Amino acid sequence: MYNPLRSLALLCLAAGGLVEGIDVDFTSASSIKSATSTIAYDMLSSWYYGNQTGNNPGNLPPPYYWWEAGAMFMHLVDYWYYTGDASNNAAVIQAISWQAGTNGEFQPSNQTSDEGNDDQAFWAFSALAAAECNFPDPPAGYPSYIAMGQAVFNVQTPRWDPSTCGGGLRWQFNPLNPGYTYKNIAANGGYFQVAARLARYTGNETYVQYADKMWDWIAASPLYDASNPDLIQINDGAEDTVNCTNPNPAQYSYNYGILIAGLAYLYNHVSRLPFHPFAVADAKRKGIVNGLFHTFSEHNILVEAGCEPYNNCNTNGLTFKSFTVRWLVVAAQLVPSLHAQIWPYITASAAGAAGQCDGWTNGQYCGYHWTTDVWDGTEGVGQQMSAMAVINAALFNVEALAAPLTLSSGGKSKSDPGAGGTSSTTHTLAPITTADRAGAGIVTFLVLAFTLAGTYWLIAVETP
Ligand SMILES: *[C@@H]1O[C@H](CO)[C@@H](O)[C@H](O)[C@H]1NC(C)=O
Ligand SMILES: *[C@@H]1O[C@H](CO)[C@@H](O)[C@H](O)[C@H]1NC(C)=O
Ligand SMILES: *[C@@H]1O[C@H](CO)[C@@H](O)[C@H](O)[C@H]1NC(C)=O
Ligand SMILES: *[C@@H]1O[C@H](CO)[C@@H](O)[C@H](O)[C@H]1NC(C)=O
Repeated sequence: MYNPLRSLALLCLAAGGLVEGIDVDFTSASSIKSATSTIAYDMLSSWYYGNQTGNNPGNLPPPYYWWEAGAMFMHLVDYWYYTGDASNNAAVIQAISWQAGTNGEFQPSNQTSDEGNDDQAFWAFSALAAAECNFPDPPAGYPSYIAMGQAVFNVQTPRWDPSTCGGGLRWQFNPLNPGYTYKNIAANGGYFQVAARLARYTGNETYVQYADKMWDWIAASPLYDASNPDLIQINDGAEDTVNCTNPNPAQYSYNYGILIAGLAYLYNHVSRLPFHPFAVADAKRKGIVNGLFHTFSEHNILVEAGCEPYNNCNTNGLTFKSFTVRWLVVAAQLVPSLHAQIWPYITASAAGAAGQCDGWTNGQYCGYHWTTDVWDGTEGVGQQMSAMAVINAALFNVEALAAPLTLSSGGKSKSDPGAGGTSSTTHTLAPITTADRAGAGIVTFLVLAFTLAGTYWLIAVETP
């Protein structure tokens, strides 16, 4: 729909002027940084008390789940990378270390009843982001940031479960949690991205093999619908009680982003894509990018299609664009041939987000509907971090920023392939075999007798 206000904002942007909402001159690095500093400050001062006496570092108050805090600290690591503003670093270092624990695997006993593989991966992303930009080290006694990523990889690898769906990880690893029978993109794509980033950062071939193995499973599963290879659709997950034959078609932008970034890290590292049988693999990757923009944008502005147009995003849904943005930026950096396709969406979304940051108590909190510069009346951690991520990304239009580092390009985080400590006694990895790659499916007919429909509420409420 034509929106005169927004078009005006974009015109002003093109002319180097100011937009509605928070004042940002997108031709000026200092103006962009000043805007995101305001957004970060409002986010932390309104919602983060974890570093105050009597609170637990790294936690956000309800309604925010534990994983969202991990995601917030990932964005705050990136905030430092983009702006150089270290004023929140002490809180960020404390939160990541506290939740990683001295084994580094982000499995604090307090979260046993609701921590899934995807939640753990989101915290791992905060540590990997820190390793990839030489974020100031954790305190003495804690593993390095890259070792935290390795610890998560080491505890998740043995959770590979070939008994249903030909393999993959379950959403939840605790059998008592609802979602134990669901195999989804957040958990499997999360592991894939963690493995791909470890491969690129450390140069250790083992991570390439496990990333490949996971990709082969995802790409062969009904989670990945490539029936139109130019417009790939990513389904959220599937029930293993029916051997994943009933993919849940719910559409979430970050499910695309998590795979696009994982593929980009891997491609950048090994100059090829996984799933070797696809000779036209490059077109396949673009097919996911095409699929993302097809479903999740309007006039080049990112829209969380499953909930935003209906004004009913839940707390989780309000965060998804933040990850999608960050992972698109990384993909554009790591696979330069994707830059021209991705970048117009980042630029337009940044302008749109700035137009939303004129709400609530002090007239500068951000809403979520980037397609209009009339504040949408909502405020929260998801809205702040989404706006922060996309406005910061616009810095690339005016300033050179390094691609994510690796050990061979100046990264200083010390690799520890055995990380994960005593809690992961099973983390000796079995060698990858042909059988692994083909997928082993030991599924009984008994299981097939149960056809479960109507289980989608789980995801709608809780993913990741
Ligand atoms: C907690 O972290 C925030 C954000 O960096 C900071 O402004 C605040 O001063 C910190 N509070 C304490 C008690 O350290
Ligand atoms: C777990 O909860 C206890 C009790 O509130 C607290 O002391 C501890 O710091 C928490 N651990 C983490 C990792 O948040
Ligand atoms: C379950 O799915 C996997 C992967 O598609 C397949 O290899 C296996 O044969 C299926 N099992 C049954 C019992 O249909
Ligand atoms: C590579 O990673 C694997 C799996 O963690 C580990 O067993 C191996 O020792 C690592 N190799 C090197 C050279 O670090």
